[in-house]
Amino acid sequence: MTDPTSERRRMATALMKAGVLKSPWLRAAVESVSRERFLHPGVFLDEGRTWRPVTAANTDPGEWLKIAYNGDTLTTQLDGHLTADRSGGPVVGVPTSSSTAPATVVGMIETLDLARGHRVLEIGTGTGYSAALMCHCLGEDDVTTVEVDAQVAARADAALEAAGFSTWTVTGDGLLGHPYRAPYDRVIATCAVRRIPYAWIRQTRAGGVVLGTVGSWPWGTGLARLTVGDDGTAEGSIIGRSSFMQARAQAVAPVAGDLSARTAYADGERRTQVSPLVLEEWMPAFLAQLAAPGAQFVRATDGDGAPLRYLFDPERESFAEFLVDDENWTVRQGGPVALWDDVERSLVAWRAAGTPEIDSVRLRVTPASHLYWIDQASSLRWEHRIT
Ligand SMILES: C[S@@+](CC[C@H](N)C(=O)[O-])C[C@H]1O[C@@H](n2cnc3c(N)ncnc32)[C@H](O)[C@@H]1O
Repeated sequence: MTDPTSERRRMATALMKAGVLKSPWLRAAVESVSRERFLHPGVFLDEGRTWRPVTAANTDPGEWLKIAYNGDTLTTQLDGHLTADRSGGPVVGVPTSSSTAPATVVGMIETLDLARGHRVLEIGTGTGYSAALMCHCLGEDDVTTVEVDAQVAARADAALEAAGFSTWTVTGDGLLGHPYRAPYDRVIATCAVRRIPYAWIRQTRAGGVVLGTVGSWPWGTGLARLTVGDDGTAEGSIIGRSSFMQARAQAVAPVAGDLSARTAYADGERRTQVSPLVLEEWMPAFLAQLAAPGAQFVRATDGDGAPLRYLFDPERESFAEFLVDDENWTVRQGGPVALWDDVERSLVAWRAAGTPEIDSVRLRVTPASHLYWIDQASSLRWEHRIT
């Protein structure tokens, strides 16, 4: 018979063996906090094209524990409202809240270098599981967690209370941080942002750390770890690949509908030096977002089933359309920003520099800009100014 205590121990041991869980105090938290309590009323299991609702109430207790401790990210809300107890059967939808995979959450908490007395701000409470781990380590008074969705926040608050943590669960837009309890020693975001809000840096003590995923594509995003300086700027690097659902206020609506209307008027057409298919790989996708912030990559096929690829920046009314003939790609570009020229220049320089990985990217955030750079080449430098 599966029991929660041994499931938690098993998961902690697996995380230690994988080199993710290192600190004894965090191990104690993983062994003590019941993940299944944070999954009520249920989860949606990924079945490819559909999501299968599974609730605690309608599932064999042993099976429910297996789901809770199998190490996966577990989706708890679809399309901003739907929960497993309200779905009669498999459904189609987009995940909007989840309990992130324990390996990811634990790895991020380890990266925070927490010490007793630290005050933490978490953005994206979700189920409350990650907040509970930090409460176990630091005490409930030193953890503030912000969730934008009122129903999600209410469920997390109830689960945290039931687990014995009367922490500060705030309903609101975490992109604003939570100035009322600032300053913090650590800010951790478990949703992705297009850029790190300066509010997070302003609300962090000098020497404190801000940790969050940057990027707006579903792939090609990176985990930024920044240290806040005495002058109110923050600097650090992208420490690895990381994938999270987008922060709601910054989420970009996918480009859909009549693509040919968007690409009707091109200003120029040429052969590409680099295949646009590289944008399906993680690091080139990350570079594309640095070189053309605001651009989205779209895949489609023409009437004959031939692949079509696009970059669209709807805000700047600019596009790049890629057409293939044999293995040769042609790009048609239109609008004020030649998106592919910018992206391709970065890709060529990145290749010439020996294709450095994502952890070679440095980032400096000021109130007015994000400056990204890679030391290997002076042209690998991108400044995003807030104008
Ligand atoms: C991946 S889940 C968080 C996982 C959670 N930390 C856990 O361990 O269970 C991301 C959460 O971020 C929330 N979110 C999205 N945009 C937000 C915003 N602007 N401010 C605060 N929370 C936000 C979503 O509603 C979702 O619940």
